[in-house]
Amino acid sequence: MTSDSKKLWGGRFSGPTAPAVEEFTESISFDYRLFREDISGSIAHAEMLLECGLITESDFIEIRSTLKEIEEEIESGRFEFDKKHEDIHMNIEAALIDRIGEPGLKLHTARSRNDQVACDLKLWTRGAIDSVLGLLESCQKALLERAQAFADIIVPGCTHLQHAQPILFSHALLAYVEMFERDRGRLRDCRKRLNTSPLGACALAGSSLPADPVFTARKLGFDSALRNSLDAVGDRDFAVEFVFSLSMIAMHMSRLAEEWLIWASQDQDFLDLDESFCTGSSIMPQKKNPDVLELIKGKTGQVYGDLTCLLTILKGLPLSYNRDLQEDKKPLFEAKDEVCKSLSVLALLISRANVKKNRLASACEKGHMDATALADYLVKRGLPFRESHRIVGEVVRYAVSCDKKLSELSVDEMRGFSELICEDVFGVLGARNCIENYRTVGSSSPGEVQRQIEHWKRVFDVEGFGEDGRGKV
Ligand code: ARG
Repeated sequence: MTSDSKKLWGGRFSGPTAPAVEEFTESISFDYRLFREDISGSIAHAEMLLECGLITESDFIEIRSTLKEIEEEIESGRFEFDKKHEDIHMNIEAALIDRIGEPGLKLHTARSRNDQVACDLKLWTRGAIDSVLGLLESCQKALLERAQAFADIIVPGCTHLQHAQPILFSHALLAYVEMFERDRGRLRDCRKRLNTSPLGACALAGSSLPADPVFTARKLGFDSALRNSLDAVGDRDFAVEFVFSLSMIAMHMSRLAEEWLIWASQDQDFLDLDESFCTGSSIMPQKKNPDVLELIKGKTGQVYGDLTCLLTILKGLPLSYNRDLQEDKKPLFEAKDEVCKSLSVLALLISRANVKKNRLASACEKGHMDATALADYLVKRGLPFRESHRIVGEVVRYAVSCDKKLSELSVDEMRGFSELICEDVFGVLGARNCIENYRTVGSSSPGEVQRQIEHWKRVFDVEGFGEDGRGKV
C-alpha cells in the first residue's frame, strides 16, 4: 500500500504527495471551525440517502451515532486532526470510515466536497449572522438606555466639527441606533438570499443517482434547494455580502469611536469613559487612555481588508468550484471574529459611559449656536430667509466684536440690525429655547426624541430600565 492509498482520493495516485504540497494545500488548520456544520450537513445527507434507498436503516444509524461521537470529541478537544486529510470534511469522513468501515464508505454517495463545503459555509454564515444580529441589538439597547438616562441633556451639535446648533445628547446617541438598525436590515437580507441549499450539485453537474436535494434543503432549514448546480458550488456571494455588512458595521462603530474620542478628549471633555474601559501609559503616570475606542477604529482596517481579499479571490474564477475558494474562509472568519469582539466590548463601554453635565452647559454657550433660531424668528416676522440670514450674520459679527452671546445683546442693540426684532426674541435665544422650538419630524426637539425612544422601546420590547439606570444589556 503506498501512503496515498490512505487518502480518500488516493486510488489514482501511485506515490505519496510531496510533504511541501501537503503543507501548502491543507485547510484543516483553519476550516476545523466548520465541524458542527459539516456534521449536521452529513447527518442530513445520510438521512436523504436512506430515504432514497441508497443506504440502509442500520447504515444510517451507525453513521449518525458515530458522527455525533466525533462531534463530541472535537468539541472537547480529544479529536486528533491530521493534515494528511487536508480539510475538516475529509478528517471527519476518514475518522468515520476508520470507526465503522463499510457504512462510512457510503456516506459520500451523491455528494462532492464541492457542494459539501458550500453547504457548510452557508450554515456557518447563517449562524454567524444570527450572532452578529444579537450583538448589534445589545449595542442598540445600550445606546437606548443611555439616551433615556440623559434624556434632557443638551450638547453642541456640530458640522465640520464646528459648533452649529444645539441638540439633545439622546438624539446623538439614537443616530447610532439608526445606523445599527440599517446594519441589521442588511444582515437579514443577506440571510434571506443565502438560504438556498447547494447540496445535490455534487462536483458541478448534479448526480446520476436518485438523490433528493429538496429533502436535505428542508432538513437543514434552507428555504429552497439549488436551481443551478454550477452556480451552487461556485457561489460565494453570501460570504461577500456578509463581510460587506460586517465592513459597514465596523465603519459605523469606527465613526462612533472617533466621535467619542473627540468628546472624551481634554479639549472637549464632555464624555466620561469608565475607568475599567481605559488603559494607562508606561511613562506618563497621569494618563487615562481611550484605547478600546482606538482599537475599534483600527480593527476596521482589518475588516475592509477581508472584504477586498474575498472580492479579489472571486474576481477571476471560472464557473463551478476552483481551489482558490479554499482561501475564502480566512477573511470570512477573521471579519466575523473582529466585528463580534468590537461589538461586545462596545456595548459594555456604552452602557458605562457618563456625560459631564457642567462642561456641556458651558460648551453650549459657545459658538452662537442660536443664530439659526434668530434667522427663523425673522422669517416668522415676514423676512425672506436670505435677508434674515444676512442680517443675523451681521448681528453675530457685532456680538463677536464685543465678545457677547446673542442673548446678552439688548433688544435695542439688535433692533439696530432689524426693526422686526422685539422683546420676545429672548424666547428663541439660548440653547434650551432652540431645543424647545424645533418642530419638524425627526428633529432634536424633546417631543421628537421621546418619540424615537418610544419607537425603539417597542422594537426591542424594552419595558423601561431598572432603577440603577444600567439597563438590560
Ligand atoms: N478544502 C476545500 C475547500 O475548502 C474543500 C473542497 C475541495 N474540493 C476539491 N475539489 N478539492 O474549498
